[in-house]
Amino acid sequence: MPTVYRGTVVHTKSFDEFESFGPGFVAVEGEKIIGVGSDLEKWLSEQKLKSEDVTEVQLTEYQFLMPGFVDCHIHAPQYDQYGLGLDMPLLDWLNTYTFPLEAKFADPKYAQQVYKNVVEATIRCGTTLASYFATNHLESTLVLAREAVRQGQRALVGKVCSNCNSPDFYVEKTEDSVKHTKLFVQEIQNLKSPLVMPTITPRFALSCSEDLLKQLGSIAKSDDLHIQSHISENVSEIEVVKGIFKTSYAQAYDNAGLLTKKTVMAHGVHLEDSEIALLRDRGTSIAHCPASNTMLSSGLCDVQRLVKSGVTVGLGTDVSGGNSVSIKDALLRSLDVSKHLDFFKKQNIWGTGTAKIPDPKYQQLKYKQAFYLATLGGAKALALDHITGNFAVGKQFDALLVDVSALEQPTRSLNVNELLEKFIYTGDDRNILKVFVAGKSIKKE
Ligand code: GUN
Ligand code: FE
Repeated sequence: MPTVYRGTVVHTKSFDEFESFGPGFVAVEGEKIIGVGSDLEKWLSEQKLKSEDVTEVQLTEYQFLMPGFVDCHIHAPQYDQYGLGLDMPLLDWLNTYTFPLEAKFADPKYAQQVYKNVVEATIRCGTTLASYFATNHLESTLVLAREAVRQGQRALVGKVCSNCNSPDFYVEKTEDSVKHTKLFVQEIQNLKSPLVMPTITPRFALSCSEDLLKQLGSIAKSDDLHIQSHISENVSEIEVVKGIFKTSYAQAYDNAGLLTKKTVMAHGVHLEDSEIALLRDRGTSIAHCPASNTMLSSGLCDVQRLVKSGVTVGLGTDVSGGNSVSIKDALLRSLDVSKHLDFFKKQNIWGTGTAKIPDPKYQQLKYKQAFYLATLGGAKALALDHITGNFAVGKQFDALLVDVSALEQPTRSLNVNELLEKFIYTGDDRNILKVFVAGKSIKKE
């Protein structure tokens, strides 16, 4: 029997198309959305259904239904240092804290506890789809994939590949990196879970030789796999990459066949115009990670510039360079970054990266656009918008039931926009009562 959620419903159709039904309904059968709109009676009669043929769930006046959050970039092992060591720029941070931490994941037992916790935490914060980096280790990466399946979260999971410019205790031989990547893909395909997908994951151009990047590009191509990595995050990093590859950061990846429609690159803070054009031509997306760009002092990423150039953008927490596991938090911080860019650009104050280009016509990101980035934009960035990201009929029911009165009873009624604003600007995981993936409620009560 279908379930019909009745009440306020919000979602997006594109960057500039926000849609709400207040009141409205979403009808779900099994995993899938079978109806959405404002007129339930009309829909029931079109379906030749009577009200007794469906199970109705009535939302309260301060509740609403929205698509699940999509985290386009998160490092699962780094949850072990969540909120710690955020006092250095990228390359020092990697060498001082992160590589030693990730090396511990040679032990799958160690990995098990951390991975259980990070999947639980992201679900608690409403992440229905996450694109995870694990570590260099095959066994532990499989632990992460199984944990996502066990807890019912949709996930892209990648065994990280690094064969150079890394410490001796955390580096692979090229042939092992390739062999373990192939084995990982095989093992995930053997799981036969619709929730988890293997993802080719060169850590970043700096830690992969040209040969390894090319071999990873051809594995991705032969199996039409998802790809994830980092690009143009930090000025010093970019200089080293250009020195090694004798070309731009984006071109280094493109030469290896790693820029595809199924590629998502994290950061892109300092991309040149020609690199943005290349990403757009290849259909490659950017995971905007505002928390980590601030915490690791990488810079202010100009999302408007990317979107206007035709690049798809989603949001990433980039835990633990980012200090919050919540995409709701990333959404708010993308608005902060956009406001800060506005100050720089309009007042012509010299900033870093893209902030140093004055633009009197710069337009701040609006909260409904940021809401798109956190949901459908993310699904698009991960090339999964045909199955998730909004409430289009036929998609999977990946959704959040939000209650803005969970912490404090409002003293007046709130319209649809105000409900969403309250949640975006003041809410947290305690406002997320239920998290659905493929129609199943997965948040721990
Ligand atoms: N670049 C290469 N590895 C990393 C990482 O773990 N975090 C971030 N933020 N950037 C990276
Ligand atoms: Fe990252």
